[in-house]
Amino acid sequence: MCTWHRLIPKEQMDLLTYCRNLPKVELHAHLTGSLSDDTVLQLLEAKEKELGSKNSLCSAKITISKGHQRSLDECFRVFELLHSLTDSLEAIRKITQNVIQEFAEDGVRYLELRTTPKNILGKMTKKEYVDTVLEAMINEMKTCRIMVRLLVSVDRGRGVEDAWSTLSLAKQYLDHDVFKGLLVGIDVSGNPNKGNLADYIPILKEAKKCGFKLAVHLAEVKSCVEETDAVLQNGLVDRIGHGTYLLDNNGYGINNQDMILKHHIPIEICLSSNVKTESVSSFEDHHFPVWHALKHPLAVSTDDKGVFSTTLSNEYYICAKTFNLSEKDIHELCLHAVEATFLPSSDKDILRQMVKDDLSKLMGKLFLGRMTTNTLKPSTVLEICTPKELS
Ligand code: IMP
Ligand code: ZN
Repeated sequence: MCTWHRLIPKEQMDLLTYCRNLPKVELHAHLTGSLSDDTVLQLLEAKEKELGSKNSLCSAKITISKGHQRSLDECFRVFELLHSLTDSLEAIRKITQNVIQEFAEDGVRYLELRTTPKNILGKMTKKEYVDTVLEAMINEMKTCRIMVRLLVSVDRGRGVEDAWSTLSLAKQYLDHDVFKGLLVGIDVSGNPNKGNLADYIPILKEAKKCGFKLAVHLAEVKSCVEETDAVLQNGLVDRIGHGTYLLDNNGYGINNQDMILKHHIPIEICLSSNVKTESVSSFEDHHFPVWHALKHPLAVSTDDKGVFSTTLSNEYYICAKTFNLSEKDIHELCLHAVEATFLPSSDKDILRQMVKDDLSKLMGKLFLGRMTTNTLKPSTVLEICTPKELS
């Protein structure tokens, strides 16, 4: 195969390496959707041992390993499968540890992990589920260079009663002896084609009254116009998940766009998730550049790094490459994510300083130019890439 030579001065990095080195903040990551292939295979093996058979799960294995493009409905079938593999406290502990370690290895310095507490008869209560996740978080923070906080998720597909019980559980952690300060907010997620978000408004009001911050999946599909209006007009949202169909040319009132801008409500941007579930037709057609041009706070995120085969570094890479971001733009994105965390201001100050320090060490090291073999100099590192990459 014909190869070209791209030359990168010693101190500089190509875009992907640069993104891996960024001190990143991940604000939209669902625990079960973040499982790596390795973790899923470990879970499958454990399940096969438990059930004493291989046949029942071999088709599942294929689905997991091949999947790179999945409709939203297919994704929710994958979640059901993953939930059937994570129905013990031992599995919950293991997946929490693995996911945190993988984010830390990817250069994530602060992770706001979200998950739906589950009550599984004879196996776990919601409280045991949350305790197990929090214990695993504390353990991983002792050994990995990462700060982790939790959002408990309300799944709109599980009904209002389930949501009330999740909220009353969350309240128990506000003043908990061991876990105080670790549960920083509530996420509302689940299949956007199920239930009506407006029915959850009383629960969201109560959650805010208790002091929880709210991250809400909003306008993820086109049909959500009315519920989106209702939730936004009640001033209940601290961060917007996706917001794919929020712009006024998508059937939403200009008022919402103005209100989001006026109140600086950060939007969690999940590029791979939106393109792979086909809610956005291509990276180029994503809503990111519209909000970015308005200097609106955005937080680049993975959503489900396992299901969508991505990493946070990869999401920064896609974003920077697709929208031709400068080094300064990329650094600003990292810092916007810090401001959008649900941390109290003293912890946010510490995180901001840490991110700023790491960013300043990277400043000037992004390789933007393109050179050919003619410009080969002794003080350069040679990198091989295909002609397609150079075109
Ligand atoms: P868990 O809460 O840790 O079990 O993570 C999986 C759950 O996250 C799914 O069952 C959904 O409720 C939610 N989820 C993951 N990705 C999405 C998404 O793109 N839209 C809405 N909900 C999602
Ligand atoms: Zn999500």
